[in-house]
Amino acid sequence: MLGNTFGRLFQVTCSGESYGWSMTAEGAGRWGGALLTIVNGVPPGIKLDVAKIQAELDKRRPGQSKLDSPRKETDRVEVCSGLQEGLTTGAPVGMIIRNVDTQDIHVQQYRDVKDVVRPGHAELNFFYKYGEHGDWCGAGRASGRETVGRVAGGAVAKQVLGREKIEILAHVIESRGIKGRSVIEGTMTFEELKENYRGNDLNCCDLKAAQSMIDDLLKVRADGDTAGGAIEVVARGVPAGLGEPVFDKLKAAIAHGICSVGAVTGIEFGAGAKAAATVGSKWNDQPFLQDGRVRFRTNNCGGFLGGMSNGEDLIFKVFIKPTPTISKPQRTVEMTAMREQELAAITRRDISICPRIYPVAEAMTAIAVLDALYMARAWYGLAHLDPKWETLARPRHEGDYTK
Ligand SMILES: Cc1cc2nc3c(=O)[nH]c(=O)nc-3n(C[C@H](O)[C@H](O)[C@H](O)COP(=O)(O)O)c2cc1C
Repeated sequence: MLGNTFGRLFQVTCSGESYGWSMTAEGAGRWGGALLTIVNGVPPGIKLDVAKIQAELDKRRPGQSKLDSPRKETDRVEVCSGLQEGLTTGAPVGMIIRNVDTQDIHVQQYRDVKDVVRPGHAELNFFYKYGEHGDWCGAGRASGRETVGRVAGGAVAKQVLGREKIEILAHVIESRGIKGRSVIEGTMTFEELKENYRGNDLNCCDLKAAQSMIDDLLKVRADGDTAGGAIEVVARGVPAGLGEPVFDKLKAAIAHGICSVGAVTGIEFGAGAKAAATVGSKWNDQPFLQDGRVRFRTNNCGGFLGGMSNGEDLIFKVFIKPTPTISKPQRTVEMTAMREQELAAITRRDISICPRIYPVAEAMTAIAVLDALYMARAWYGLAHLDPKWETLARPRHEGDYTK
């Protein structure tokens, strides 16, 4: 399998599957492997707060409410390299998170239908790419469990970004057509998002809408079905000029990171889709001067100009499809026998992926932004520009960072 590393200078490499198989030289092996993350490019001398890494992992941990998969994972992280007496050394930071809830009963449920592809899931392509050797248990690396490694890597990135006063938060803004207020629509402030962050099982910061969404999801669950939705990601404190003008736009790097997460069906930067129905005079974000700095009256572009950050908040929506695994019978194909049949899944699943994907989106954004920051600092270090340009590029919300 190729492509398990994200980032160019700040790099996160992940391995690990939904269930995994552990084996030692002495033993015959057993179900229950681990998710591994290696982070390259962590500066030395940082007092890495492992409790904060754990807190990020706890946000996406399953089994916390009726909306999540009932799988009981502890998701305990152990940092096992790159630290000395609590401080980073500059060496790669290695982390391990073991899979603990891999009971035989659940393995058997997957074994029973191992050649029958779940409509909407990745199994069909796993057959095409890995043949009969592909991982059939819990979707292997196509499982949402794979995202544990991303969140661990993103948590390290967030700590480095914290020193630069950059903060990234995401919340649910839509579930099965029920819409909540959002920062991009101008119906919620960033401060309200922060205040209500994780205030309910769905992490929808519009508390009234959250209740309707949750009530609706419980009905969907009772019906054996699943639901789609959308989240909004806001990155505050990002300096202007991050990203490169052509292939390596920050917008493209973020889209790469976000679209690499399972179940994502689209990303919309700023007012994105509204662009199709408007005119330039309404769409353009007009710059003005405030205390000698360039600000914008609106943020239709979501904080991106020429694909690079413009010093405003980076804001984008991410659309999430309904969880593929459903109990309702659906037509599909059994791959080894090459015959059609019906599948009504009994394996564990999330009713909605929204309450579990937002920390993953935060993590991927953090890695992409930090990687771009490394590139920008390297550029300024060698370009010998008049320093006024780097000073002017400072973020609009500098000093707003409160966590
Ligand atoms: C955090 C997270 C949790 C997920 N939970 C489930 C789940 O419980 N059941 C399921 O069928 N798919 C789940 N998925 C979605 C699948 O991983 C995804 O749909 C699958 O890999 C196919 O990829 P695609 O949707 O991008 O085509 C989850 C994804 C994420 C990111």
